[in-house]
Amino acid sequence: MAERAHWLAGRVAVVTGASRGIGRATAVAIAREGAHVVVAARGAAALDATVSSIRDTGGQATAVPTDVGNASAIDKLFSVAAGIGPPTALVCAAATLEREPFDEISLASWERTIRVNLTGVFNCCHAAFTMMRNVGEGRIVNIASLSGVYATDKFPGLAAYNASKNGVIGLTEGIAVEGKPFGISAISLSPGAVDTDMLRRANPSLRPGLVPDQVAAIIVALLDSPLTVASGANVPLFSNA
Ligand SMILES: NC(=O)c1ccc[n+]([C@@H]2O[C@H](COP(=O)([O-])OP(=O)(O)OC[C@H]3O[C@@H](n4cnc5c(N)ncnc54)[C@H](OP(=O)(O)O)[C@@H]3O)[C@@H](O)[C@H]2O)c1
Repeated sequence: MAERAHWLAGRVAVVTGASRGIGRATAVAIAREGAHVVVAARGAAALDATVSSIRDTGGQATAVPTDVGNASAIDKLFSVAAGIGPPTALVCAAATLEREPFDEISLASWERTIRVNLTGVFNCCHAAFTMMRNVGEGRIVNIASLSGVYATDKFPGLAAYNASKNGVIGLTEGIAVEGKPFGISAISLSPGAVDTDMLRRANPSLRPGLVPDQVAAIIVALLDSPLTVASGANVPLFSNA
C-alpha cells in the first residue's frame, strides 16, 4: 500500500513556547514531518538552539523572538510566517506560571498570567485564523492543562494559572465553532504532569508521568488527523505513571 503523505509535509507551522519543554519537542516533531516550523518564545538564544537542532537533522525552521503577551510582537511573528507561506498549523504552547497564595495575588500578577496564557493564545489564534480562512484550511492545537479542567486535582497557589487554562479551553471551543465554515479546526490538549521546568516550578514534589516527546507525538497525531468532527474538544492527557 502506498504511504500516505503527512498532512504537515510542506506546510508552514507556527509553534509558540518553542525554546524549551513541550513547545520545543513539538517544534522538532513537526519539522520531522516536513513542515517549515516558525518558532517563537522570548529567549532568542534558546530559540536559536531549537532551530539549529532542527536544521542539523535536515529540517526547516525560523526563529522569531516573541513575547506572546505583546500584540504587536505577535503581528510580526505571523507576518514573518506568512512571508514563508500561509501558516496552516498553529500550536500555542507558550505559558507562564507563578505560584502565589490566592490572597497575595496582585492585580499586576493576575493580569500578567492572563495576558500571556490566555490573551497570548487569543492573539495567535486570531492572527492565524485570518490567514487560514484566506486559504480555506487550518489546524490549531492549544495547550491548556488538567489544571484548567473541573474536578481534577488542583495545587494551591495556581488560581490565576488555572483560570487562564480554563479560558484556553473555552476559547478553543469558540474558535472551532466559527472556524468550521472555513475548514479551520481547533483542539485543546490538557496534559497532567509533564517533565519540564514549569512542572518543577508548579510542584517540585510531583512525579511527572509524561515527557515532552510524548506530548509532542500526540500533537503531531492530532495535526495529522482530519479534526473536523472532534474540533472544539479538549483532550485530557493523564499520566501513565
Ligand atoms: N509541564 C507540565 O506539567 C504541564 C502540564 C499541563 C500543561 N502544560 C502547558 O504546556 C505548555 C508548555 O509548558 P512547559 O511545561 O513546556 O513549560 P516550560 O518548559 O516552562 O516552557 C514554557 C515555554 O513558554 C515560553 N514562554 C513563557 N512566557 C512567554 C512569553 N511571554 N512569550 C513567549 N513565550 C513565552 C518559554 O520561553 P521563554 O521563557 O524563552 O519566553 C518556554 O519556551 C504550557 O502552556 C503549559 O501551561 C504543562
